[in-house]
Amino acid sequence: MPTATQSIREIVATQPSAAKVFERFDIDLCSQAENSLACACAELQLSVDQVLEKLASADAQEQGGSPIVPAALSTERLIQHIVRVHHQYVRQELPRLAEMAQKLADKRSDRAPELRIVAELLEELRAEMLAHIQKEELVLFPFVVQMDQESIIAYPPAHECFRSVSHPIFMMEQEHESANHIVAELRRLTVGFEPPEWSCATHIALFGGLLEFETDLNQHVHLENDVLFPRAIRLEAELNSRG
Ligand SMILES: [Fe+2]
Ligand SMILES: [Fe+2]
Repeated sequence: MPTATQSIREIVATQPSAAKVFERFDIDLCSQAENSLACACAELQLSVDQVLEKLASADAQEQGGSPIVPAALSTERLIQHIVRVHHQYVRQELPRLAEMAQKLADKRSDRAPELRIVAELLEELRAEMLAHIQKEELVLFPFVVQMDQESIIAYPPAHECFRSVSHPIFMMEQEHESANHIVAELRRLTVGFEPPEWSCATHIALFGGLLEFETDLNQHVHLENDVLFPRAIRLEAELNSRG
């Protein structure tokens, strides 16, 4: 657990969720990086105990969350889980990471020119992923839920945009590949999201956030490509065979 005598930089390096807590308290990751938490709090007239408490609960949240068994969930519950956990995360994290990358590139690209490309790639990823999850939520997911609910009827519900659910699924899988490709490129450019020795706390927080994003994207894509999409295709085939 972090302590009041640790520097902001050390805390962010050991607990990635700390960056968001500091942002909420207006503790600047760059200018306060080498200050102890106690000192940063004194400067902003914050209660150290209150900040430590928030750091502890952010850490508990990060570690916690009972693992779900996707195969055991109904189709509707699985979709709800994907939207509430992973889509929500994309909406919160990508704008934050893209903004942080831009700020870092403006300050440090003279020393690390690749940070410019990191910022551009994150902006591309942000635009692609936000459009992608919107398509899933507005078109594909409601259709799959409807198909699931109508499975007692002998034919699949028609959709005006496509003749088979495999078409939008194919498109979504291609977009997953594109997102994975961008994240792989970010990993390559940042040498495994490892901040260099001279990094400021923003640098450390950005790379920590990218590593966390990569893990979340893997889980998100796995739930769709390997669980939800095959289930939707089976459901449609079943409904067609009854028709
Ligand atoms: Fe998704
Ligand atoms: Fe997706």
